[in-house]
Amino acid sequence: MGINYEKCEACYESMRDKIPFSPKVALVLGSGLGDYADDIEVKAEIPYQEIPGFPVSTVPGHAGKFIFGYVGDVPVVCMKGRVHYYEGYSISDVVLPIRLMHRMGAGILFVTNAAGGINFDFDAGTLMLIKDHISVFAPNPLIGPNEEEFGLRFPDMSYVYDEELQNAIRMAANENNIPLKEGIYVQLTGPSYETPAEIRMLRTLGADAVGMSTVVETITANHLGMKICGISCICNLAAGMSSSPLTHKEVQEIADRVAPLFKKLVTESVKRF
Ligand code: HPA
Repeated sequence: MGINYEKCEACYESMRDKIPFSPKVALVLGSGLGDYADDIEVKAEIPYQEIPGFPVSTVPGHAGKFIFGYVGDVPVVCMKGRVHYYEGYSISDVVLPIRLMHRMGAGILFVTNAAGGINFDFDAGTLMLIKDHISVFAPNPLIGPNEEEFGLRFPDMSYVYDEELQNAIRMAANENNIPLKEGIYVQLTGPSYETPAEIRMLRTLGADAVGMSTVVETITANHLGMKICGISCICNLAAGMSSSPLTHKEVQEIADRVAPLFKKLVTESVKRF
């Protein structure tokens, strides 16, 4: 048995009695969606601290727990808070929660995040459907012996973001008059923000939004054979694109401002899955 598979199984065994149902959708709540669970019919909550070996975030505002509930009729497990690679966790610990939610039964992964806008058409507050990603600046979470229990050694990455789920999100946005842009997300490790030169490079490479999460999680979910979709909340124009310096406070303020629209889009999308 692979070591990450073994760890995931141990986490699952420690919590299985508290899991109220097999979720259809695993929802990762990024900045701004932290209080999303206020809007759903909550059936159970499991704080990450109660799961032996589970990575617990050190970032202010990222307090962590799994929340189980219904969005419409759809059973979901939400991750309120996630750990980032820049916190010093091994990459296999960063992606463990994804494997665990898959183990609980989730076949769909819906990721959300706060990101910096690289595309000149984006403003602070823009919501962006993730159409594809660039992973080459982040560590690949599948490095190491392949754990066959999870998936294949060389997973195809041609269709990471599921077309049908993307269409459901487009429809949800359209029918609820929620402006939605589309683009390519690139993950860097952080925790420092990018330099203006790096942002120019990332734009040249075809990226529309930049952040410090998500891609390692979707690579893992793709390895597991999950269907994947995601939305970025563009919380700031990336470095060098505005006259003011970047602050985490600004990112959080914009995330909070956009939260009602972001939540509505997530809810209306999940109902269509
Ligand atoms: N860069 C990287 N990560 C981010 C940004 C950014 O500009 N904004 C929010 N998360």
